[in-house]
Amino acid sequence: MQDLLDNALARIGAAQTDEELEAVRVEVLGRKGVLAQLSKDMGKLTPDERVARGKFINASKQALETAYDQKKSVFDRAALAKRLDSEWMDLTVPAAGVPPGSLHPVTQIQWEIEDLFRSMGFTVLDGPEVETEFHNFDALNIPADHPARDMQDTFWLDGGQGGAGGYLLRTHTSPVQVRGMEKLGPPLRMIAPGRVFRNESVDASHEHTFYQLEGMMIDREVSVGHLIYFMKTLLTAIFKKDVTVRLRPGYFPFVEPGFELDIRCLICGGAGCPVCKQSGWVELLPCGLVNPHVLRKSGIDPAEWNGFAFGLGLTRLVMMRYAIDDIRWLQSGDLRFLRQF
Ligand code: FA5
Repeated sequence: MQDLLDNALARIGAAQTDEELEAVRVEVLGRKGVLAQLSKDMGKLTPDERVARGKFINASKQALETAYDQKKSVFDRAALAKRLDSEWMDLTVPAAGVPPGSLHPVTQIQWEIEDLFRSMGFTVLDGPEVETEFHNFDALNIPADHPARDMQDTFWLDGGQGGAGGYLLRTHTSPVQVRGMEKLGPPLRMIAPGRVFRNESVDASHEHTFYQLEGMMIDREVSVGHLIYFMKTLLTAIFKKDVTVRLRPGYFPFVEPGFELDIRCLICGGAGCPVCKQSGWVELLPCGLVNPHVLRKSGIDPAEWNGFAFGLGLTRLVMMRYAIDDIRWLQSGDLRFLRQF
């Protein structure tokens, strides 16, 4: 029996792998192992032999379990070291990082126009997107019962038109004209780029949320000639090539006379497409001389001062510059589209 024990201890000591060790354990210490067999046979022994056998089994069990645990812990440590080795990483290596993004095409062109107008002495102003009914309409000569309110489908807040707050999502950047006149007074040269909102059905050239860029100049003896000069300078700088434009009368209660400056559609070259609604022309730049009522409402004397204003469709300008055939691409968030700029 002692041989059995010595042999098992030697095999535990010599085991090279976890599997070999496990095989010895099952063979000697397992439920059907050698020690279990020796216990089973005890019934056939005399009382003295039984005592001796019991002592031997207990001592052997203890010795084998101790040897097994020691060896097992050596294997476990080795396995752990191997795992640590394979999972090791250098925490001091700088992370790969997020690839740099790029400016949205609307922002790129907005910044170009800002630079251009700054170079001509204009200030860049910002206005709130949640606007008062007064600044968006009344101060621009569009009182509550005026049909011109229907020209711009409005997202009203706080209970609708004439509701408790009289707030809305601004439908154009023109309210910043009013804020500019209130804040800075004449003489004034300002532009105001920004996001505007209209409750209208979306198609290839209409979004519910889009960008405009307002411009205003108030001085003495400003004429339509000044207006045309600045509009031409703007378009030449953006397109860097000859573009065909047409100026036609346009109605906006805050300018008199008012014009629509359209551009020959650069998507179809004028042949007709969904963007220009088959007309060959795209409405881009409504403008005009500031209505004296508007000046008066902002505390400016129209006998001394006059000016021009324009409201560039910035999103449409971006479409024309890059020949984008559907306005919905611009706010799609689609990286395949955005990575082209
Ligand atoms: C206005 O918003 C006036 N505030 C412009 C103005 C300013 C006139 C100063 C006179 C003096 P209008 O609603 O036409 O005007 O919009 C101006 C431009 O915004 C349009 O020519 C067009 O280029 C663009 N635009 C209008 N609606 C949309 C739309 N749903 N989606 C994309 N662009 C639009």
